[in-house]
Amino acid sequence: MWPYPKIVAHRGGGKLAPENTLAAMRCGLAHGFRAVEFDVMLSADGVPILMHDPVLGRTLPGLGRVSDYTAAELTAMDAGSWFGAEFIGEPVCTYQQAMAFCRQHGIWMNVEIKPVEGFEVETGHVVAQATQAYFEVEVVAHLAQPSLETARNLPLLSSFSSAALRAAQVAAVGIPRAYLTDVIEDDWQQNLQELAAVALHTNHKYLAPMQAAAIKDAGYGLFCYTVNTVKRAGEILAWGVDGFCTDRIDLIGADFCQ
Ligand code: G3P
Ligand code: MG
Repeated sequence: MWPYPKIVAHRGGGKLAPENTLAAMRCGLAHGFRAVEFDVMLSADGVPILMHDPVLGRTLPGLGRVSDYTAAELTAMDAGSWFGAEFIGEPVCTYQQAMAFCRQHGIWMNVEIKPVEGFEVETGHVVAQATQAYFEVEVVAHLAQPSLETARNLPLLSSFSSAALRAAQVAAVGIPRAYLTDVIEDDWQQNLQELAAVALHTNHKYLAPMQAAAIKDAGYGLFCYTVNTVKRAGEILAWGVDGFCTDRIDLIGADFCQ
């Protein structure tokens, strides 16, 4: 069974605030969301930070790869003004800050490991280790007496990078993983087994009802990104999809039911 929340705010606060920042998570919270997806990559000095793009230019001013800059340099950058004047000066959020914010407010996390090319293993390793260290008590409780409730207290790591997920598995076997794929290929079950993943996360645009049924029949969780209309949300939930993230936290509430 899917122990996690059904409706998740994509990149913190969907399209209502600068993605992957604390401002985004505050926005999600203000809209009633207690579940969040965000992207994590490494700075040049190996510190996990919240970021989607591997290069500067869209959400951060400047040029070059995120992995060219230290955490001190990145957290001094303005990650909000690209979105709107009211967010000028919103800093880049570290993974530690995000975990602390989510714990403080009772927010469940889908942590998407988003490595800059060439840093897949290192990113998977560092993110998983940081998560394991932060959730040590919850991991021990879950391993001692596994239940839906103890599973619900753990975050879920996901990644398009199998190498990152494998590294996460080695670094922190007690933190659950989800296999993330844009299109579901024929070898999906083998991939899930090899990664000892608990769920498959996929693009709702390419999901077919028969695939959804097969994944659920095999006993895995099924989660979709990024669902932005009420109609589509109802369709995929009727196919057996367990949960999804949305950019339209204003249209699809945290308590949405099909
Ligand atoms: O984790 C699901 C989704 O966020 C994947 O796509 O590009 O928005 O990170 P992207
Ligand atoms: Mg993402």
